[in-house]
Amino acid sequence: MKTKVLMVCLGNICRSPLAEGILKSKVDSSKVFVDSAGTAGYHVGNPPDERSIAVARKYGLDISMQKCRRFSATDFQEFDYIYAMDRSNFSNIMKLANGIQDEKKVKLLLDEVDFGLTEVPDPYYGGSDGFEKVYEMVDLACEAIAKRLN
Ligand code: 4NP
Repeated sequence: MKTKVLMVCLGNICRSPLAEGILKSKVDSSKVFVDSAGTAGYHVGNPPDERSIAVARKYGLDISMQKCRRFSATDFQEFDYIYAMDRSNFSNIMKLANGIQDEKKVKLLLDEVDFGLTEVPDPYYGGSDGFEKVYEMVDLACEAIAKRLN
C-alpha cells in the first residue's frame, strides 16, 4: 500500500501544484502517491498558473500537465497526510472532517520545518518573486517530508 499525500491550497493553481510537483520529485513513486487540490472551485479543470509552471521549470520540474480539482470530504478516506498551505485552507479542510481520525491527518505544510513562517503566502496577486519564495519554502518542507517517507 502506498502512502498517500495531498497538498491543499485555495485555488489549486499556484501553491499546491508546486508542492505536488516538488514532493513527487523527491519520493519513490512506487511507495508514495502525491496529489493536490483546492478548497475553492474557481479554477477546476485548469492547468496551474503560468507563474507556477515557470518557477517549477526553472528548477527542472514540469507541472504543466496537472489539472485543478476541488478538495472534498472523500479525500479523508483516500489520503494519509493532508497538508494545508495556510491557516485559512487548514480551517476549510477541517470543516469537512468527520471525526478525530480525519482531523489527525491535517497539518500545516510549514509545520514540517522550522524557519519562522507557519504559512505559505498566497502569491496569486503578486509578482514572480512571490512564486520564487513559495518554491523555496515548499521545497524545504517537502525535503523534510520526503526524508521521513522514503
Ligand atoms: P493558490 O492561489 O491558492 O495558491 O492556488 C490562488 C489562486 C487563485 C485565487 C486565489 C489564490 N483566486 O482567487 O482565484
